[in-house]
Amino acid sequence: AARLVAENTAIIEDFPKPGITFRDLTPVFADGPSLRAVTDALVEPFAGRIDAVAGVEARGFLLAAASAYALDLGVLVIRKPGKLPREVISESYDLEYGSTSLEVQPSDFPPGTRILLLDDVLATGGTLAAASRLIERAGWVVAGVSVVLELEELDGRANLEGRDIRSLSVV
Ligand code: PRP
Ligand code: MG
Repeated sequence: AARLVAENTAIIEDFPKPGITFRDLTPVFADGPSLRAVTDALVEPFAGRIDAVAGVEARGFLLAAASAYALDLGVLVIRKPGKLPREVISESYDLEYGSTSLEVQPSDFPPGTRILLLDDVLATGGTLAAASRLIERAGWVVAGVSVVLELEELDGRANLEGRDIRSLSVV
């Protein structure tokens, strides 16, 4: 899986703005064998130890759905604000300019549910730290965090201290 990620990641200089090197995983998702290998590798360390998988809107959703199907488990959707119709809890996190938030519906899973948290990229860790706090506030357990790509220089792990974090590819 690591080799397929490295081979299929598109590197775009100066996107979304000058000076930023963007790593685009859409070719990984576009290639059937790569998507399958990535999906399997994300969950393999946690097999048998989780009750559900969670994906962070938007890119985390496709990994969560594929993984859940493979494991015969359900998906917790962690959404951007204002999308969920029933009672929610929210956690805000910082963006480069300003802040935003993520939301879950606590009634979607019973207390104590062991959840594997999935996303495509670990950058600053703000997204996954907020998602982890939400899972715990809802009464669930963060069994682990699994990402396709970790951008090491941003030290996102510092925001996720104490979590069992796996990355398929580190740059
Ligand atoms: C991207 C990416 C991760 C997050 C990582 O999502 O998919 O979720 O940023 O960044 P961080 O570690 O610095 O928080 P984005 O918010 O751009 O939205 P998208 O998934 O809807 O494209
Ligand atoms: Mg995202």
